[in-house]
Amino acid sequence: MSDLKVNVIDHPLIQHKLTMMRKKTTGTKDFRELLEEISMLMTYEITRDFPLKDVEIETPVSKCVGKELADTRKVCVVPILRAGLGLQSGVVNMIPAAKIGHIGLYRDPETLKPVEYYCKMPSDIAERTMLVVDPMLATGGSAAAAITMLKEKGAKKLILMCLVAAPEGVKVINDEHPDVPVYVAAVDEKLNEHGYIVPGLGDAGDRIFGTL
Ligand code: PRP
Ligand code: URA
Repeated sequence: MSDLKVNVIDHPLIQHKLTMMRKKTTGTKDFRELLEEISMLMTYEITRDFPLKDVEIETPVSKCVGKELADTRKVCVVPILRAGLGLQSGVVNMIPAAKIGHIGLYRDPETLKPVEYYCKMPSDIAERTMLVVDPMLATGGSAAAAITMLKEKGAKKLILMCLVAAPEGVKVINDEHPDVPVYVAAVDEKLNEHGYIVPGLGDAGDRIFGTL
């Protein structure tokens, strides 16, 4: 764990909500709402270093120089389908001007390798910060493949945001994409023999969409 390059966002509100999500008794409605809330809070932390610029404004009292985001229109959120959709609305609530690209990947249950089925991006991804979102970083195969696809299409600046990671998945991203910062709410203990994160929260897509 110590040699992994990963930003763990351990804000108390995020940790509290994550624990609620992990409980097997938490139903689809609450799971989805908690995921949206966490994604807003994580976006708040991830954007901490986004550049600001001065802007002259007039308040009801006087003129002044305020700050605004230098390139709010330059973010593209990329949910990895399906489960990444659970993080999309929280990010877009925080960055309303963001564009949205979708990548469809599912993990073959036998080989655990990602299988691509969809990709639709805005045309100007080379100029955008691509924020790739997926709740689970397990073997890392899906996120690594998504990042490779985006780089092949010209993306230059990427960030990966996940809810729960296994150490194995973080290592894959660190090794294959050392230029991509990884943000998570927790790094769990390990993967089990089926490639599930332990303790994790189960199958994120099934819990978001009620397809258990
Ligand atoms: C889950 C999850 C990730 C992937 C993580 O998706 O949302 O995309 O598995 O596993 P990995 O790191 O080992 O690749 P899944 O394949 O279950 O598809 P779904 O989102 O459509 O349910
Ligand atoms: N995908 C999930 O949804 N959960 C896991 O624990 C691993 C992969």
